[in-house]
Amino acid sequence: MENVSQRVSSLAISQTLAMSQKSREMQAQGIDVINLSVGEPDFNTPQHIKDAAIQAINDNYSHYSPVPGYPQLLKAISNKLKKENNLEYGADQIIVSNGAKHSLANVILSLVNKGDEVIVPAPYWVSYVELVKLAEGTNVIIETSIDSDFKITPEQLKRAITSKTKAMFLCSPSNPSGSLYSKGELEALAKVIEESGVEMYILSD
Ligand SMILES: Cc1ncc(COP(=O)(O)O)c(C=O)c1O
Repeated sequence: MENVSQRVSSLAISQTLAMSQKSREMQAQGIDVINLSVGEPDFNTPQHIKDAAIQAINDNYSHYSPVPGYPQLLKAISNKLKKENNLEYGADQIIVSNGAKHSLANVILSLVNKGDEVIVPAPYWVSYVELVKLAEGTNVIIETSIDSDFKITPEQLKRAITSKTKAMFLCSPSNPSGSLYSKGELEALAKVIEESGVEMYILSD
């Protein structure tokens, strides 16, 4: 498309969506394809969720909502985090948005200035680096391998942190590797950050 901003034209097309599109085209040609790209469930939305959405429309939940989300919903999320995850977050610490990508875009665009560095452990979900580019930040990729179960080590993190570090993505369990950091591994990474003296944000996706 002509006339889009340099910011937008610098972004790469989502490889996930490109692969998904390709698999649809191949399926349309009658080719037997197993599509492992988009993380789409292989079942439809359960009936009770459909019913609740229809009920909400009939109850006229169709006007502008408060920006962070309806208070009852924020309270319900706070209760869920306490009950199921043993996490204490008040309703005033929660913001509802349209999916994880929207939340991450909000966070990156709110935090990252031109030239700020964001640490991205690889392999990573495709949109992280594009969001940082959009905010004119610099991606600092930490490569991993099967030898470390595709997890970064405290030594690697120590080398990656600079005075320009603003944030780090942490996806555990990870998409795409499935790797899960243990409590001890997370504590070791937290210790490196604490000792660095750099004030940075951890974006836990
Ligand atoms: C690690 C990760 N983060 C974020 C997203 C985006 O999630 P959403 O569809 O809720 O925007 C995905 C989607 O696959 C993902 O795998």
